[in-house]
Amino acid sequence: MLTLIKNIKKLVQTEESPRKWVAGKEMAVLPSIENAWLLVEDGLIKDFGSMDTCPEPDEVHEVDVEGRIVMPAFCDSHTHLVYAGSREIEYGDKIRGLSYEEIAKRGGGILNSSKLLAETSEDDLYEQALVRIHEIIGFGTGAVEIKSGYGLDTENELKMLRVIKRLKETTPITIISTFLGAHSIPMEYRDNQTEFVDKVINEMIPAVAAEELADYIDVFCDKGFFTVEDTERILMAGMKYGLRGKIHANELDYSGGIQAGVKYNALSVDHLEFVGPEEIEALKGSETMPTVLPGAAFFLNMKLSPVREMMNAGLPLALASDYNPGSSPSGNMKFIMSLGCINYKMTPEEVINATTLNSAYAMGLSDELGSICRGKRANLIITKPIPSVEFLPYAYTSHLIDQVMLNGDLITLE
Ligand code: NIG
Ligand code: FE
Repeated sequence: MLTLIKNIKKLVQTEESPRKWVAGKEMAVLPSIENAWLLVEDGLIKDFGSMDTCPEPDEVHEVDVEGRIVMPAFCDSHTHLVYAGSREIEYGDKIRGLSYEEIAKRGGGILNSSKLLAETSEDDLYEQALVRIHEIIGFGTGAVEIKSGYGLDTENELKMLRVIKRLKETTPITIISTFLGAHSIPMEYRDNQTEFVDKVINEMIPAVAAEELADYIDVFCDKGFFTVEDTERILMAGMKYGLRGKIHANELDYSGGIQAGVKYNALSVDHLEFVGPEEIEALKGSETMPTVLPGAAFFLNMKLSPVREMMNAGLPLALASDYNPGSSPSGNMKFIMSLGCINYKMTPEEVINATTLNSAYAMGLSDELGSICRGKRANLIITKPIPSVEFLPYAYTSHLIDQVMLNGDLITLE
């Protein structure tokens, strides 16, 4: 089946040969073709070019998108979108002055979501998450990583991961699954954290691996949560089952999590509010994608990650939504781009690289998604008629996505 998209005002993020990521100064470059066409065959990008070379195949479904921009669908490489209920009551506490750590210390936060999740059936959890999946497809997301981590015991972690598996099987979006058993220390283990880490290693990881429920493994390596030693033990245990790390690090302090992630060749280290010269040095020359989550920093009024320093040091950078009920209750990647520009002073070109190709790398998908490249999967955003690509992050609350194509199929948006 052939689909020809023609009269594209601008075809954005084109590649002649696939790159694994873009780094440093290159992040300011966004290859594009004005007045373009794009041919899709059997779900894959077959070819593209400028309208003066537009092909005229015999049997083709033509889509005329006059005035519209076409770009790769967003890759959201860090979310917790399988969760039960919501946490707007804590939002009130936060407004009245409590910090994220204070809320967590008194048993709120992640533990609050964990209690709710234990009371929610697998079917109900699936239905709640499905609504969020449809929501983010409408926001232009074509691939999403989803973590467990509100189970905090074997049974409920497996429940979450089975829901993620079911979402993989029943929705057109590409889903990557990450096991995050070490997300918070349950109350009953507060005086014996090592015992909980032992349980993650000896009970949870083997159970998750036996059902092949996870693609990656995560640890919340930060002040008040898991230590570097805990993190290294868990990453080592994961490696035995072929699970590579994608870890939460340096959100609340200089936790050593970035160095631990790099040491164990994590695919990404995420959050990164606390990054200094040592962390940058550790990341240089590594295969680990620094990933910043502007939605969480915005929602919690946290200090901002020094993204310009990282890019000036030649590092690549990805942005993701962190969609979760406690620190970022939104999966809108277009808004994440706007936050990248407004708060972090990234350029529109840089935020598009950070939310497409680089975030595809951060979920192990940059060889098949994240750019307009022959042979990659046709996961695309077709915008409404807009004056320029810069207009996307600029008009920061306007809904500018007209159509979304996933695996070559135009999706009916809800
Ligand atoms: O990425 N930092 C740790 N975990 C999540 C928050 C999860 C929650 O509060 O429910 C995050 O921000
Ligand atoms: Fe997170």
